[in-house]
This record gives sequence, structure tokens and C-alpha cells, in this order.
Amino acid sequence: MAALRSTTSRVLGAQLSGAAFRPAASMFARTMATVSEPPKAEKPKKMRTFQVYRWDPNNATEKARLQNYELDLNETGEMVLDALIKIKDEQDSSLVFRRSCREGICGSCAMNINGQNHLACLCRIPDDGKDVKIYPLPHTYVIRDLVPDLTHFYAQLKSIKPTLLRTTPSPDGKEYRQSIEERARLDGLDECVLCACCSTSCPSYWWNSEEYLGPAILLQSYRWLADSRDEKTAERRQNLNDNMALYRCHTILNCTRACPKGLNPGLAIAKIKKELSL
Ligand code: SF4
Ligand code: SF4
Ligand code: FES
Repeated sequence: MAALRSTTSRVLGAQLSGAAFRPAASMFARTMATVSEPPKAEKPKKMRTFQVYRWDPNNATEKARLQNYELDLNETGEMVLDALIKIKDEQDSSLVFRRSCREGICGSCAMNINGQNHLACLCRIPDDGKDVKIYPLPHTYVIRDLVPDLTHFYAQLKSIKPTLLRTTPSPDGKEYRQSIEERARLDGLDECVLCACCSTSCPSYWWNSEEYLGPAILLQSYRWLADSRDEKTAERRQNLNDNMALYRCHTILNCTRACPKGLNPGLAIAKIKKELSL
């Protein structure tokens, strides 16, 4: 039995490691050759020009200009932000723009794309074959390239005290509760990501931004007026009842058309005016 066992193992060993295994290997090679696919035809390139606003404060003698970049859209993501990131990564690391979440949440990639304010991460590269023109948000001071200076915008936001203001403690010492209806009043308001697309598309804000709060900050103002938990409503109303801060809005609704989140700042402003008239 022992002799039989050792003979069997020797035979198997010879088959696996010696000449007996070779024919099987060459058969495998022949099979592979039969099923291998013909080389794929290369996809035709889908070239597109991106004209991007450039200005460098360190080179103050040079005027702002548009710089062209060519990209193959077959190798680029679908959104304008994907194109900008590809340009920065592979062609020109000196290009400056803001972005963070790439999901339409942080509001930092707002810019003017083909004449419309938009969040670059939510804006598809148009499929019309035309050049894509990208500028910073209009009527803003530019820090560099596509980065606008939003210092004044944020100062205006701070001026309306955009936080819950109340002195009465909650009944259970834990939460300030709302009914479903009270919470629903904040829908369409608290989704605002403060991107400034609406304010920088508003003609009244262009000409009066020192005093006029503009649609974004007014939408935020209404968000706190509408909050059932807030206890400073009278004070907030009084601060808003100002000829310049509120009533520069002429209901042209550029702001509502511009909002990349589908919000309606024009309606929020109309509601403030209505509440102040009661
Ligand atoms: S509706 Fe008012 S805030 Fe909106 S764009 Fe017109 S003027 Fe500006
Ligand atoms: S209302 Fe819309 S456009 Fe205006 S700041 Fe908010 S998210 Fe941006
Ligand atoms: S990167 Fe955050 S909104 Fe576009």
C-alpha cells in the first residue's frame, strides 16, 4: 500500500511539474489567442475651449484678460468645476478659484458661467460645442482670477444677526421645539448656501450695495423672521424697515432666476414687505 501510494504521488508530481504538463499549457495559449478581441478604435476627441478670466494682483501692471484652455471632454468630468480642476492639475497650477464640497453645499464655487451666475460644481459643461466663458461673480472686487471679495457681503450677513435669538429657556431645558407647520415655514429658506449668486445678479445690489442688503441677506433675514423659536422678531422688523436696506428691491426677480439651489429670494423679500405693512 505504501509502495502504491509513493508511485501515485510520483506520477502526479511528474505530470504537474514536468514535460507532461506542457501540452496543456500550449492548449491554453491557443484558446486565448482564439478569443482575444481586436484592438479598440480610439474614441474621437471632443475638444472644447474654456475661456477663463485671469487677473493677478501681484502683476498690477497687467490688465485682466481671458486665457484659453483646451480640454478633451472625453477625459473630463461633466461639471464646469471638473474642467477647472483638470486645468489646474494638468495645465496651469497658477489658476485660482474657490471650491470645497463639489456637491452644491458649501457655496464657495460661485462664478459667472456663459453669462449666468452658477455654482460651478452644479453646472454641466454645455453640450453645444461653443467655448465656455468663465468670469468671477459680476460687480464684485476681484481678489485674484475667479475669486471675488465677499467681505462686504459677509459683513451684511453679520449685521442681521443670523442666529437664533431668545432669552426664554426651553421647557425641558434641552430643545426649542417646533410643530411640523412651524418647521415647514423654513422650507425654501434654510437651504440657502450663501453663495451670493443672487445678490451679484441683482441690478439694485450692483448700484446700492453699500446700503441695500440684497436678496441673499434679505432671504436670510426672512428665515429668522419666520422662525417660531426666535424672540427678536420686533427688533428684526424694525431694523429691516429701511428705505435703502429693503426697499431698493424692485421685484425684477433676477435673483430668483440666478439661484442655483432653486430658492426664491424675490418671494422672501415680498413676504418681508408684506409683514412690515401689516
Ligand atoms: S427681485 Fe429685488 S432682490 Fe431680486 S433681483 Fe430684483 S431687485 Fe434684486
Ligand atoms: S438664495 Fe440661492 S443664490 Fe442666493 S445666496 Fe442663497 S443659495 Fe445662493
Ligand atoms: S464646491 Fe461647494 S458648492 Fe460648489
